[in-house]
Amino acid sequence: MTPADLDALKRAAALTAVEYVKDGMVVGLGTGSTAKHMVIALGEKVKAGMRIRGVPTSRETAALAAQFGITLIDSDNRWVIDVAIDGADQVDPAFNLIKGGGGALLKEKIVAASAKQFIVLVDYTKQVPVLGGSFPLPIEVVPFGWGSTAREIETLTTSPVVLRVRNGAPFTTEAGNFIVDVHLAKIEQPRDLELALNQIPGIVETGLFVGRTDLLIVGTPHGTETRHAKRA
Ligand code: A5P
Repeated sequence: MTPADLDALKRAAALTAVEYVKDGMVVGLGTGSTAKHMVIALGEKVKAGMRIRGVPTSRETAALAAQFGITLIDSDNRWVIDVAIDGADQVDPAFNLIKGGGGALLKEKIVAASAKQFIVLVDYTKQVPVLGGSFPLPIEVVPFGWGSTAREIETLTTSPVVLRVRNGAPFTTEAGNFIVDVHLAKIEQPRDLELALNQIPGIVETGLFVGRTDLLIVGTPHGTETRHAKRA
């Protein structure tokens, strides 16, 4: 499968997802190469007369949405988000996710948590039996004392923790924080890990999205599959 083939699967998933968006809704707009297709498809619907308002999860998404004519809601508002649609880096059989490959995990999690429905779009290669392994877990940390925070994470996880670097300098998020990537072999208990990580001072947010997905839309070579989360 070439990158172009995978991109076509992402687009197919995005086209399925936008059918869940109805006139008048407030829509959380995810970030990344999959979410980009969703924003463009929503822009087409707006052009055709649909009235929606978007809450973007990054400046990049905000710029794209504005370019495609989607009205954006100011971040000072107390949103009521009807549906949030976003991509993911990995998804397990319980629809738990690793996100944050693009560094937008903080806004993405705030928006997902504020949404009545959270729809996740992936191509089939993102599905894994257990989170971790091929994709490190991104964690947003405050710059002050980040090395000590990283050491705490290493002690908790007994796994290598690497500061994300871009162009020779620490990658900085839109909130002015750093990202560390944690190379975990297997995340067998994602909820327990998320809770434990959240106890470490200096951690702003983790890329673990546990129990948040309502609907998973998977682009596969045999068509798009839509799966509803089972609720306990
Ligand atoms: C952005 O920080 C991420 O959470 C993305 O949503 C995630 O990395 C998926 O991106 P792609 O759709 O580009 O694979």
